[in-house]
Amino acid sequence: MSIPKKTVAVIFGGKSAEHDVSIITAHIPIIESLLVSGQFEVMPVYIAKDGSWYSEPSMNSLSYFKDPSYAERLARQKKIGLLFDNGLKLIWPGLRLRVQPIDIVFPAMHGTFGEDGSLMGLLRMANVPYVGCDLFSCAVAMDKVLTKQVVSAEGVPIVPYVWFTKFHWQEDKKRCAQAVESLSYPLFVKPVHLGSSIGISKIKTPKELENAVEVAFHYDNKVLVEQAVENLIEVTLPIMGNDILQFGQIERPMNKSDFFDFNDKYISGNQKGSGANSQYSEIPANIEERLKEQVVAFGKKTYTALGCSGIARIDFLIEGVQKKVYVNEVNTLPGSLYHHNWKKSGVSGLALVTKLIDLAFERFSAEQTATFAFPSDILRTIGGNKTQK
Ligand SMILES: Nc1ncnc2c1ncn2[C@@H]1O[C@H](COP(=O)(O)OP(=O)(O)O)[C@@H](O)[C@H]1O
Ligand SMILES: [Mg+2]
Repeated sequence: MSIPKKTVAVIFGGKSAEHDVSIITAHIPIIESLLVSGQFEVMPVYIAKDGSWYSEPSMNSLSYFKDPSYAERLARQKKIGLLFDNGLKLIWPGLRLRVQPIDIVFPAMHGTFGEDGSLMGLLRMANVPYVGCDLFSCAVAMDKVLTKQVVSAEGVPIVPYVWFTKFHWQEDKKRCAQAVESLSYPLFVKPVHLGSSIGISKIKTPKELENAVEVAFHYDNKVLVEQAVENLIEVTLPIMGNDILQFGQIERPMNKSDFFDFNDKYISGNQKGSGANSQYSEIPANIEERLKEQVVAFGKKTYTALGCSGIARIDFLIEGVQKKVYVNEVNTLPGSLYHHNWKKSGVSGLALVTKLIDLAFERFSAEQTATFAFPSDILRTIGGNKTQK
């Protein structure tokens, strides 16, 4: 007798600047590998830029989204709904109501509403297992300041920084600028929650501060100003696991511009069909052994301190002359799962995706054993015993 296949919903798209990148991650390698495995029924779930949810079998192919008129095709399609009835179910409303129970969700959404923990909160409420980092680690990782606060408390080195909110800035620019004076130029000014280098400026003099801060506040209401790392070597470390961790290769992206911008990350040097992170990189990074050890040690501490599970990627900034390693940020959904990197460690796309599903079930079963509810007398006794006859 054959084992019934599990139904995996791969959720992608979403209201995010990285909407299109998410479509690529979902297909290469996730859906592609799940289909090859033959072990799963794959339900592609696409969230459009307006937040509407859709699902139809042809969305399992990337070609659906490569068609420039796919938005018109979507407009003719029925939106789906969700049912939280003892797990998660997709529903196609209408006369011919269709209900599809989901065994596990594979989130493939980058940036806002996906990687920031929002989707994970929804899945947690639905009590359905899901792949990758949970709500709490995603929410911390999405905020560059919270990440710094958490990892530095664990002794992980971070670049000196200050932060302020839009309210503080508008109320007292002078005080905010004074706080910035504790840092030495050049500086980076960043919106705290965004990715893909959007709204980030590198400034060399105090004269440039106000404009850079205003640009960042255009995208966010919390802004971070940090010291630039000179003689920069950037590396990144993919990590997989719940409690027992497995490390990918330390990778050094070889970008050309002053700093890694959206174009460098996703467009320039893009080879056909190679996923969301196909720019030229050095794998493994050609850095000293001592630096490699620090990258792994700080990566491990960061992953654990944030409570990551499943998969994540930790980005580092290294001062190349003084040889100092700093943690920069944490990505809870590496573009295309960084499958090109895992391949170099002998982990195929198929092995990667199935391992992540196993880890998701493992975490889910562990969570089911926790006690959340306690018997209480409070309702019976509130306001005295008057309600009792
Ligand atoms: N403190 C810094 N020193 C030197 N370069 C930096 C610094 N902070 C950011 N950068 C450059 O800017 C890029 C984008 O910044 P990052 O903090 O990674 O934001 P994003 O979330 O947009 O990826 C980095 O990849 C790096 O090239
Ligand atoms: Mg980055």
